[in-house]
Amino acid sequence: MLMQRRRARAGARARHAAERTVNWADGRLPVSEGGGLLRKAFPEHWSFLLGEIALYSFVVLLLTGVWLTLFFKPSMTEVVYDGSYEPLLGVSMSEAYRSTVDISFDVRGGLLIRQVHHWAALVFLSAIGVHLLRIFFTGAFRRPREVNWLIGVTLFMLALVEGFAGYSLPDDLLSGTGLRIAQGIIQSIPVVGTYLTMFVFGSQYPGHDIVPRLYSVHILLVPALLVALVTLHLILVFYLKHTQWAGRGRTNRNAVGKPLFPQFMTNSSGLFFMVFGVLTVLAAVAQINPIWTYGPYRPDIISSGSQPDWYVGFLEGSLRLMPPFETDVAGHTIMWNVLVPAVLLPGALFAVLYAYPFFERWVTGDHEEHHLCDRPRDKPVRTGLGVAAIVFYAVLLLAGGNDILAHTFDISLNLLTWIFRVSLVVAPVLAFLATKRICLALQERDRERLEEGEETGEVHQTLAGGYAERHGPLDPEERHVLRSRREPEPLALSPKEGEAPHVGRLRATLSGWYYDDRVDVEEPEQEPERAPESAPDAAHEAAASEPGAYSGESER
Ligand code: HEM
Repeated sequence: MLMQRRRARAGARARHAAERTVNWADGRLPVSEGGGLLRKAFPEHWSFLLGEIALYSFVVLLLTGVWLTLFFKPSMTEVVYDGSYEPLLGVSMSEAYRSTVDISFDVRGGLLIRQVHHWAALVFLSAIGVHLLRIFFTGAFRRPREVNWLIGVTLFMLALVEGFAGYSLPDDLLSGTGLRIAQGIIQSIPVVGTYLTMFVFGSQYPGHDIVPRLYSVHILLVPALLVALVTLHLILVFYLKHTQWAGRGRTNRNAVGKPLFPQFMTNSSGLFFMVFGVLTVLAAVAQINPIWTYGPYRPDIISSGSQPDWYVGFLEGSLRLMPPFETDVAGHTIMWNVLVPAVLLPGALFAVLYAYPFFERWVTGDHEEHHLCDRPRDKPVRTGLGVAAIVFYAVLLLAGGNDILAHTFDISLNLLTWIFRVSLVVAPVLAFLATKRICLALQERDRERLEEGEETGEVHQTLAGGYAERHGPLDPEERHVLRSRREPEPLALSPKEGEAPHVGRLRATLSGWYYDDRVDVEEPEQEPERAPESAPDAAHEAAASEPGAYSGESER
């Protein structure tokens, strides 16, 4: 009894203190407005976690990176090693390399943190890549999210630079080889190449400045840009609200999902700890970048099988595939064999990424707002283009390891290089055609399911003596999804106002290419004029029926 009264008194005191704190904050900060924001609904789907995985690996990178700065020495001053790793005793090396070996062997927990940092970088770039693909294949880059797509592509580019700068810091044999290639690439830029190289390296290669310079880029300049742009990116996700998959009760005018606080935040914090945990386990069991086995950098040495981190591999591959080709113009040599694969190609890849949302809008004439995700099969041309791009990238990546592949499978290196050269042109086209066919076949299957119902697996004999399968009714939720596809018509051949006739014709042809091939389903489901306001709909009910779940809805 006494205990109960004490507990009640403690509860009342806690409530009183909480009220006073909220009142205090409310008088000084936008707490009531913030309260509304905290109830914003976040749609749920596993594919929406990819951006969060990128975010949390970035957080892990920042935490472990700050720790590493306490011990890393960004200096190229030569020292003689006298630490605890015996095979390197008496070897001359830069202070940068020495301090990385020391972090690995003489700083408590150093090797683990170094490995968490490196694994986090690999996962960060992988997550960004897969997140970008999810945005592309679901059409989440369309109006009103084009600006966030542009910010995303910039983040991707900065992440590549950040990764390259980071793994060049230890000044080991592998990273020095990478820097040597970078120097060659900068030098291949016509007219300004030599000046740019001197500007970046501060002297003839390798000089003594590159590591301290990369250090400023890696720990200050690029991270600051990344933090600022990630913040802007997330503010836009919040402001525009997240896209969602079609379903009953989910329309272009609402967002149905878990409220930001407490459900979404709780799930998301859980994901952070999982990402941190998985990265730590990886770092503990899987060795990565063992620089002490590579040795310190010397420009006159290179080891066989040198491979960069995976995200730079496509550039390595494009360099290896390009045939030797150079021209002399007025006493200057233009090195096409470096300029094309290592400067023009990545430039073109990023230009295409930046331009795609605007290109698709121009071709399709689709200026509407889209908050419902596309199913990839419903946009066969876009999906085909995406798969073709993945195949193009994969060929380049594989070509980056052509020496290792040739050695492992005992194939001639020259033959393999030619196979990759041909594949780089042919494989993306085949991938596009195959993907488009598969998408149309899946659309056809959807149409059959809508018209005939779900296959039951029960076969009966017909009166005529034949056999037929019985079909059952389709799940209403799925029926809704299949019928919610809205397919715009190809543009007419008439040019837009102010558009040159041949541009108009090109646009109409491309529009036909985008939309002509498709399987029409029965009359598509129309969206209600207004989002349902009261009475919980099916999506709410489904979500709310999970134990402890709460489903909310925000208007767009
Ligand atoms: C540092 C790298 C990045 C981080 C940390 C990041 C983080 C996020 C997060 C947490 C979300 C919300 C959840 C989700 O939809 O997955 C999101 C959404 C989005 N991201 Fe990223 N992202 C990054 C890079 C990119 C890239 C490379 C692109 C595309 C080029 C991109 C485009 C978008 C778009 C358009 C949305 C809105 C999606 C929607 O509402 O459905 N992001 N991002």
